[in-house]
Amino acid sequence: MYPIEQVEALNPEVTRMVVRAPEIAKKIKPGQFIMLRIDEQGERIPLTMNDCDPEAGTITIIFQAVGATTIRLAQMKAGDALQDFAGPLGNPTELEGAKRACVIGGGLGTAIAFPQAKWLYDHGCEVDVITGFRNKDLVLLEDEIDRHSTRQIIMTDDGSNGNKGLVTQALQQRIDEGADYDLVLAVGPVIMMKFVAATTKPYGIKTYVSMNPLMIDGTGMCGGCRVKVGDEYLHACVDGPDFDGHLVDFDDAMRRGVMYRSFESAAREGRDC
Ligand code: FES
Repeated sequence: MYPIEQVEALNPEVTRMVVRAPEIAKKIKPGQFIMLRIDEQGERIPLTMNDCDPEAGTITIIFQAVGATTIRLAQMKAGDALQDFAGPLGNPTELEGAKRACVIGGGLGTAIAFPQAKWLYDHGCEVDVITGFRNKDLVLLEDEIDRHSTRQIIMTDDGSNGNKGLVTQALQQRIDEGADYDLVLAVGPVIMMKFVAATTKPYGIKTYVSMNPLMIDGTGMCGGCRVKVGDEYLHACVDGPDFDGHLVDFDDAMRRGVMYRSFESAAREGRDC
């Protein structure tokens, strides 16, 4: 069993949880994820690491209570324990060698993008972090990003924190101002990643996107997490989750995402699919 050490609500929808998992904490790198199961009857869900402390033997995850399992998970308390917490899974993000990076997080994607920004900043890279949220109440990790970035630009739909508008507008503005990025990394809604990749493509800036499709086994066996990249289908769980944003077929990913929505609502409401 994997004890939960801390639980904290970051906003009405999002929870930060620190879980004791010393073996994973020793090995996990930015971009990798874990699969957890609350109890023996529970479904396995993938969650990307937000932070880790190898000395304390802990992994921090941040999640939104949107599905049947994440709603249950958000109700758990420090002192409870998880049945399974397996990882690290997936490949670490390729960050070595970047000198001027822009890390972009949309909503909860900010929590997933944070370890990459932190790693880059701690390794001497100049890092702009652009984040996007619906409004000021949903802004995540503002203080943490301030400490681990060269520049933080917050965008909100209503302008209630930072600037009003989209992350892609901020990205285009920074490029127009002469930001000479050698790496852009985007994590968030598929539509956001699609337009980030479209923004950087004319400039030939290396762009990674972190794909988060439905995952069932996390081992490349079930085929649930297929992503069309160039001419081939790859598995987000074993080939990703990061892919070249200029090759991903985002429209195919959005079509596949919609296919599973009715199953998720049925699970949330306790109905048969
Ligand atoms: Fe099953 Fe990736 S989660 S193949």
